[in-house]
Amino acid sequence: MHNVTLIKGDGIGPSIIETAVKIINASGAKIQWEEAEAGLKAYEKYQTLLPDATLASIDKNRVAFKGPLTTPIGKGFRSINVALRQKYDLYANVRPAKTWKGAQTRFENIDIVVVRENTEGLYVGKEHYIDKAEDTAVSLAIVTRAGSKRIMEYAFNYAKENDRKKVTVCHKANILKFTSGLFLEVAREVAQNYPDIEFEEQIVDASCMHLIMHPEKFDVIVTTNMFGDILSDLTAGLVGGLGLIPGANIGKDAALFEAVHGSAPDIADKNIANPTAVIMAGVMMLNHLGETAAATKIQTAVEKVIDEGKFVTPDLNPNSKVGTTEMGNAIIEMMG
Ligand SMILES: NC(=O)c1ccc[n+]([C@@H]2O[C@H](COP(=O)([O-])OP(=O)(O)OC[C@H]3O[C@@H](n4cnc5c(N)ncnc54)[C@H](O)[C@@H]3O)[C@@H](O)[C@H]2O)c1
Repeated sequence: MHNVTLIKGDGIGPSIIETAVKIINASGAKIQWEEAEAGLKAYEKYQTLLPDATLASIDKNRVAFKGPLTTPIGKGFRSINVALRQKYDLYANVRPAKTWKGAQTRFENIDIVVVRENTEGLYVGKEHYIDKAEDTAVSLAIVTRAGSKRIMEYAFNYAKENDRKKVTVCHKANILKFTSGLFLEVAREVAQNYPDIEFEEQIVDASCMHLIMHPEKFDVIVTTNMFGDILSDLTAGLVGGLGLIPGANIGKDAALFEAVHGSAPDIADKNIANPTAVIMAGVMMLNHLGETAAATKIQTAVEKVIDEGKFVTPDLNPNSKVGTTEMGNAIIEMMG
């Protein structure tokens, strides 16, 4: 039995997580869920977005499955997502975007994995005004040689283990000579240890153009925190939207699985959110836990349901009246 901390999250979080949990439970995977609170509901109850009891649960279980959490905009609130990634040193954020036969898009044959450095860069939370009038603000980007080396090795090892052919490093070393410059320097060094994997360098703005014009040419992308955040939403758009893209946050001794998307307040409480992204995050978690048979069973069922196109949410078919719960039930039925 694997003990997993379960955080349902805000907005569409509870509905998609409950759907995913039902599917995982029906798959035969041996998961013992331990529910913990975080986000806006926790704030209303305990005046903290991330209660100690939640941290204690993750400390113990070392694996968490989580719905999206709303980060209030403005000063005084740090993103809980960023805080969790830093606290558990979840340095590798893996975000796969693959063409689904049943999802209508402008492109075909896309199979891109964004490996995003998840603990450094511009998201370290070192920001302040530099004058009393609060007219000038500064945000620090921190990039270390050790942090760059471990994410680069993660990306190349991922490529090797998953029979991938190419790693593209996306950077901005032409302008950010030190932060992006160091990241690129380490990329070049690490690439030499993987002669069987093609290594490619791209300036991130050019990557945006290439990704739109020839997405099929990309394989594994490795990049810094903010560029990875942005590029992975772009790759999500290429294959049918945020409702389809899972994310794994991996550290040396802890891991957290979630959808790439946020709490989607615009569609919360309407039973129309696509549960696929979080279900596929569950598949990544099951593979991580060694529950590979259950993972394959769920993935195959999700693929069939999306291919069939009958029980999919409106983001995949605007004429669809199928909701989150109904799509989840169709996946369970498909698993047999
Ligand atoms: N890991 C996380 O918990 C995480 C990630 C991103 C954003 N957020 C937070 O979520 C909140 C809302 O952010 P946002 O609106 O910029 O981004 P979002 O990802 O929540 O939504 C962007 C767009 O995608 C759509 N969308 C997202 N998920 C969908 C799904 N499963 N099915 C169908 N459509 C879906 C939404 O309706 C919206 O139009 C913010 O507070 C933000 O900080 C959290």
